[in-house]
Amino acid sequence: MNRYVLNETSYFGAGCRTELATEVKTKGYKKALLVSDRVLASCGVLDKVKEVLNNAGIPYDEFLEIKQNPTIKNCQDGLEAFKKSGADFIIAVGGGSVMDTSKAIGIVNNNPSFADIKSLEGIANTVNRSVPIIALPTTCGTAAEVTINYVITVEEENRKIVCVDPKDIPVVAIVDAELMQSMPAKTIASTGMDALTHAIEGYITKGAHILSDMYEIQAIELIAKHLRGAVKDKNIVDMEGMSIGQYVAGMGFSNVGLGIVHSMAHPLGGVYDIAHGVANALLLPIVMEFNVPVCIDKYGNIAKAMGVDITNMTKEEAAKAAIDVNIPQTLRELNIPKEGLPRLAKDALADVCTGGNPREVTYEDILKLYEIAY
Ligand SMILES: NC(=O)c1ccc[n+]([C@@H]2O[C@H](COP(=O)([O-])OP(=O)(O)OC[C@H]3O[C@@H](n4cnc5c(N)ncnc54)[C@H](O)[C@@H]3O)[C@@H](O)[C@H]2O)c1
Ligand SMILES: [Fe+2]
Repeated sequence: MNRYVLNETSYFGAGCRTELATEVKTKGYKKALLVSDRVLASCGVLDKVKEVLNNAGIPYDEFLEIKQNPTIKNCQDGLEAFKKSGADFIIAVGGGSVMDTSKAIGIVNNNPSFADIKSLEGIANTVNRSVPIIALPTTCGTAAEVTINYVITVEEENRKIVCVDPKDIPVVAIVDAELMQSMPAKTIASTGMDALTHAIEGYITKGAHILSDMYEIQAIELIAKHLRGAVKDKNIVDMEGMSIGQYVAGMGFSNVGLGIVHSMAHPLGGVYDIAHGVANALLLPIVMEFNVPVCIDKYGNIAKAMGVDITNMTKEEAAKAAIDVNIPQTLRELNIPKEGLPRLAKDALADVCTGGNPREVTYEDILKLYEIAY
């Protein structure tokens, strides 16, 4: 059995944020809680969305207290803001951190017995759908606008929990590359590598399926084609290519799972607050190498999607070409202490994404991979 959960409606194209007003009116929503963060409020991105709401006379309150790698407190404060506002829907404007917090707010508001958030880890037996969410992504990485997942940090345990719940999926996704152009180049690079990691892990994951393969190969093609140009000068053609590439990757992986690049990236965020995309970029080639014995054919397809001419290559050479992603940094350069690696390995082994990895892994395997990344 295979199940696919996708948005009810999604919009693409530079400037498509104006559709927000039409959607709100058509759905009959009355008042929004506009969820975003301080950086987006100060760099003008949030204003672009507020302009649409103001022009259409749609009332809203704002909640902006969300940090990167959002915490349980961020979610609980957001829930309080939602209740106080009298809103009947959420507009999430931001990267994965903002969209994930919005999902937690929406789910807990309608399923109050999960107010501690921690009990939502893994596949929770919530009963009611989330408060309706309209999501406008501002990074080109997580695809949280189309995924059924959200990732929250339990601060007192320095641990990230992954919550998987089809009831949290945003009703509408509005993917407007103009909201992404203000990202610093290094954020485009790191979130873009998150998207590439989703596409590759979603393609080789144990649960991969004909439909998800179709999405992931297309996503790899788009990201390989557009990421460099987007980082270089943020031109709208490449930014749009990235905005769609990351979304298409999400259409796939959200429905089939990921692998241990993500399991190993989550503790780096939970314990050391490393940006998610930076952690993925560093781990991706190392984990790909580890998975070679069970993925060699699929790696050839990945190389081909990346634009490599594999006609005269052996399977091994094609796989090597797929893995040849630059490693930008090491864990040492990110100031991760070597004695912290066993704890990271323990958390990574327990992560929800580990079950999806195509090759079986042990604690010792994961520790060894962290050591290579060190
Ligand atoms: N829900 C999912 O399916 C899913 C998938 C992958 C990752 N995640 C989670 O998402 C989080 C990471 O999200 P992210 O990588 O999108 O980054 P993010 O949301 O943490 O944003 C990173 C930084 O960039 C800023 N920023 C965002 N958009 C900007 C813009 N347009 N201009 C200027 N600055 C901007 C933010 O304010 C923030 O400071 C992690 O917690 C990760 O675990 C979730
Ligand atoms: Fe990710």
